[in-house]
Amino acid sequence: MTETRSTDAPAPRVAVIVVAAGSGSRLGHELPKAFVPLAGSALLERALISVFGMRDPAQVIVVAPNGHLDAARAMAARVAGDASVLVVAGGATRQESVNRGLAVLRPEVRTVLVHDAARALTPAALCDAVVDAVRSTGHGIVPGLPVVDTIKSVSSLGLIDGTVNRAQLSAVQTPQGFPRDMLVAAAAAATDEATDDASVVAAAGHPVSVIAGDPLAFKITTPWDLRRAESLLLGSAPTIAAAPRVGTGMDVHAFDAASELWLAGLYWPGERGLSGHSDGDAAVHAICDALLSAAGLGDIGGVFGTSDPRFDGAHGDVFLAETLRLVAAAGFRVGNVAVQIIGNRPKLSPRRSEAEALLSALLRAPVNVSATTTDALGFTGRGEGVAAVATALVLPERPANPDLSWEA
Ligand code: CTP
Ligand code: MG
Repeated sequence: MTETRSTDAPAPRVAVIVVAAGSGSRLGHELPKAFVPLAGSALLERALISVFGMRDPAQVIVVAPNGHLDAARAMAARVAGDASVLVVAGGATRQESVNRGLAVLRPEVRTVLVHDAARALTPAALCDAVVDAVRSTGHGIVPGLPVVDTIKSVSSLGLIDGTVNRAQLSAVQTPQGFPRDMLVAAAAAATDEATDDASVVAAAGHPVSVIAGDPLAFKITTPWDLRRAESLLLGSAPTIAAAPRVGTGMDVHAFDAASELWLAGLYWPGERGLSGHSDGDAAVHAICDALLSAAGLGDIGGVFGTSDPRFDGAHGDVFLAETLRLVAAAGFRVGNVAVQIIGNRPKLSPRRSEAEALLSALLRAPVNVSATTTDALGFTGRGEGVAAVATALVLPERPANPDLSWEA
């Protein structure tokens, strides 16, 4: 546990506990959810930017998964400069994680906000509004939005039991704010596993009010939420998997006599290899780029970090499997792929069908592989390396509109 703070600053009267210790099972990423990148920075780092944008100085406590405490500290230090940041290990449930944060509150703190790192785009102004409302009412405050959908209660068999009056509903968000003593006592007495802090405080018999929430404070739960957040940050509309989409990709690797040659997913004994962080398979990398671009997922450099040990020396099957997973998570399946290899060697034709069969099996879609030379011109003509260009078509898993269906 480390804390850094400037010695002459007044002790904060507000604390924000940022819970970031969940695994993110519904997001399905290999990293815990708060550590998943979102337009270049992890969710937790983005959440902290808002927290440190608050008007009042606050004691900030980050509750992170064991094993990610140093990463959380590094993020907090990047965002916070010399402000107060404490990083503690979380528990098995959200409630336990909140309790670990409550245990390290500074004595001067009077108002406590509990915030989900998963609500990474929450504006600082919403945190300020919660603090103000706790101070003026003296009780618990949660931000909430009116429910727009018609809500049904449904039996386990899928039968509708009834319609819930949505006028009485609010979809509540975080940060949720409370007078310190009220929250600490309610949390100590809590028996059930609650998914938010307002339920714990209400169960202890205290009033909690709703103030206007903010659409940007939505919780990132599924891959779709992550893409929506990314689109909001990057200023473009989210890709909607409603129509076929094409993408292109291109890659180049230099020959390296010390390496084995892997190209189009195949091992080529006796041929000069290609250099690269992975196995230098330009054809596979071009295919990945084409698929990612078709699905609106950026490019291979953004998805497969060179620092990620999973891709150190990895062969094409690893890249294609991960790309396919991302494309599927974005709501698409592969229609077909064409890749052209440009270079003098290796001679493709004897193994074209083998390469096509392998790549088609990996992508569960037809992949065509062709090759050309460049008439002795350029780096490929001089035999310095191999280039590959690919085009991919992806299809929405389920057409949103039957009129757009391209299949009989
Ligand atoms: N959280 C936590 N400790 C836990 C469980 C959840 O600190 N043991 C945090 C999460 O990191 C998240 C917030 O509580 O910021 C809201 O939880 P949720 O969105 O459900 O996140 P996860 O539990 O990580 O996701 P999932 O339920 O999909 O596994
Ligand atoms: Mg959860």
